[in-house]
Amino acid sequence: MTATYELADVRHCYGDRCVVDIPTLEVRSGEILGLVGPSGAGKSTLLRLLNFLETPTHGLITYAGVEIGGDASLATRRDVTTVFQRPMLLRRSVAANVRIGRKLHGLDTKDGSTERWLEKLGLTDLADAPARTLSAGEAQRVALARALVVEPSVLLLDEPTGNLDPYNVGLLEEIVRSENAERGTTIIVITHDVFQARRLADRTGLMVSGRMVELAATEAFFSAPQQPQTAAFVRGDLLI
Ligand SMILES: Nc1ncnc2c1ncn2[C@@H]1O[C@H](COP(=O)(O)OP(=O)(O)OP(=O)(O)O)[C@@H](O)[C@H]1O
Ligand SMILES: [Mg+2]
Repeated sequence: MTATYELADVRHCYGDRCVVDIPTLEVRSGEILGLVGPSGAGKSTLLRLLNFLETPTHGLITYAGVEIGGDASLATRRDVTTVFQRPMLLRRSVAANVRIGRKLHGLDTKDGSTERWLEKLGLTDLADAPARTLSAGEAQRVALARALVVEPSVLLLDEPTGNLDPYNVGLLEEIVRSENAERGTTIIVITHDVFQARRLADRTGLMVSGRMVELAATEAFFSAPQQPQTAAFVRGDLLI
């Protein structure tokens, strides 16, 4: 299996504080990788490196076999879409917020894909509503529709179900699974819900203080963790 990302000696520091420190990491093409870890562990920062919003202070990121230096090409940036922990929506209608994804990627906006994604995410009735009036969970679903409407190669999800009720958690997980199965989309999902990682991910990684403490096949990660910190995290004990 080829690698979507290869990280070598990647460190990302703010001043003299390094919040991501990953000597080596491979993200496999077509996998669902779950990332768990306590607040402040560096998960979102790692995601910002993987969508090329930030350049690591040290080390090298290779994407699809190409070393990404200071600036990723437009084509590479378009390959990767992110649903952020706190999605930003434009002061426009719900439908316009989804459609803009395709517009920004130079794709056809009249092919019915916007309407299809609104429907898949249960947003059809809200299509004309102003996005700023949405509940947090509705806004999260709009952000996911906007990300998927461009058919990315890589989907980065930062706490995508934080604000969703159980029905919509199930809906989102089903969509993530089918995108992965049908289109081979590589998906990285950060979650505080270890059960969600266990349900969704092929492999799961635990980040603590910027480091990848353990990364393993999800079943092994949960049933036979190799590191004491992983065992503690899986048990639900607080990590310091
Ligand atoms: N732009 C920045 N400048 C300075 N420090 C930052 C910056 N961005 C992140 N940090 C710090 O880096 C650390 C890691 O933050 P990050 O948001 O990656 O954590 P996280 O694992 O996503 O946490 P959470 O689960 O709460 O979302 C935190 O201590 C944060 O304060
Ligand atoms: Mg975060």
